[in-house]
Amino acid sequence: MDLAIYLLLTYIIASIPFGLLISKLFGRDIRKEGSGNIGATNVTRVLGKKAGFLVLILDASKGFIPTYYAYYYFQDYLYISLVAIIAVIGHCFSIFMKFKGGKGVATALGVLIALSGKTAFIIILFWLGVFLISGYVSLASILSASLSWVVIFYVENNIYYTIAAFIISLIIFYKHKDNINRLLSDTEHRFLHK
Ligand code: G3P
Repeated sequence: MDLAIYLLLTYIIASIPFGLLISKLFGRDIRKEGSGNIGATNVTRVLGKKAGFLVLILDASKGFIPTYYAYYYFQDYLYISLVAIIAVIGHCFSIFMKFKGGKGVATALGVLIALSGKTAFIIILFWLGVFLISGYVSLASILSASLSWVVIFYVENNIYYTIAAFIISLIIFYKHKDNINRLLSDTEHRFLHK
């Protein structure tokens, strides 16, 4: 399989809106409830922890599986990095949702675990720290995304992975623009410390 087909398949697989599908199983439409996002955070908010955890695992797998497999299939850092970026783009700009989609955090986590387990471990700890202190999922996600490319640069010393993580962090930033506005106006929904 050549790179173009692999990227196309990655895009299509990552486009699968698991949050939306699982909410439909509950007879609900996640896009019309809570923040309206299809991600694990909003599924947890609306449908509970078990459904949210399932969406987290499924959305992370969409990033992890194509990126991890690309590592063995292509053995080329540029190609692996392109797959990583396309996986996040698939989730955020889904072909099954008229190019709308989620905010990319869980899929980016799966990508990061595939690219660099050490970096993912550091970022998960950082995410937990910000979340526990602030109570905001979105703030933890935005700051973690911003830090990820710096950490992967130092841990892996790989320019392709660093640029991929940087581009993914820009996508996550863009997708959180409403959250950023709510954080700035102190109207963002808190998960903890209500
Ligand atoms: O991963 C998405 C999270 O950072 C924010 O989700 O539903 O609060 O907009 P939400």
